[in-house]
Amino acid sequence: MKLFVDTANLNDIEQTLKRGFVSGITTNPSLLAKEPKGNFLLHAKKIIELIRVHQPGIHLSVEVFSRNADEILQQAREFRGALGYDKLSIKVQIGWDELEAISKLATDGFSVNCTCCMSINQAVMAAGAGAKYVSLFWGRIRDGGSPDAEKQPVLFATKSEAVKEGALTGSDFDPAWVVSETRKLFDASYPGVQIIAGSIRKATDIRDAALAGAHIVTVPPKFFPQMIKHFKTDEVVTQFLKDFENWMK
Ligand code: E4P
Repeated sequence: MKLFVDTANLNDIEQTLKRGFVSGITTNPSLLAKEPKGNFLLHAKKIIELIRVHQPGIHLSVEVFSRNADEILQQAREFRGALGYDKLSIKVQIGWDELEAISKLATDGFSVNCTCCMSINQAVMAAGAGAKYVSLFWGRIRDGGSPDAEKQPVLFATKSEAVKEGALTGSDFDPAWVVSETRKLFDASYPGVQIIAGSIRKATDIRDAALAGAHIVTVPPKFFPQMIKHFKTDEVVTQFLKDFENWMK
């Protein structure tokens, strides 16, 4: 199981890469939109420069921003040409039209990270189309089963329709079930495809997603301090240093 950092913030990326514990970086259009407005590819190049300085050769996922297959293909080729980074993965959201682009990109030798996946069916179709990574959105899968989902009429209408059609059942809103069952299917049929668990909402989601079978968990940097900190560690380190200081007097 590996950790990625889920951000487009250059400072957070640098502070993370300096510590050497992640194996990749994932970005998405909303994460990028949190950064100062500017040239998208220039920002991606700055991320790659940080990778080169601190952790050469780690994974970088950069997401397209279209639902049209032809535009997706064009953007992916532009990203590859402009960025020239051999560990670049193109993030393409799951969708009926997008599957054509995923299949063509995979055939063309691109590493595709099929993202915005919420179900086993989506994950299996993405893997079948040639995606190298499938990003399952842990937090949003869980959100889909929450009462709040029913406060959003449009969302609820499609959810009700999917449940009525038998396309989704209660288990589909349990991220641990979705990830663990997807992992079993991938181990059997798509051993080269890796599950990235994203959409992390709290620090315990990280270990839960890993224990459920995600190959990779991509973590917003705000959770790293929570992950590293433990009150009993603080207690024992303080004790060790105090005892040693007393012994040295
Ligand atoms: C990962 O790469 C995803 O884009 C990201 O984790 C999504 O998180 P969100 O559900 O908080 O938007």
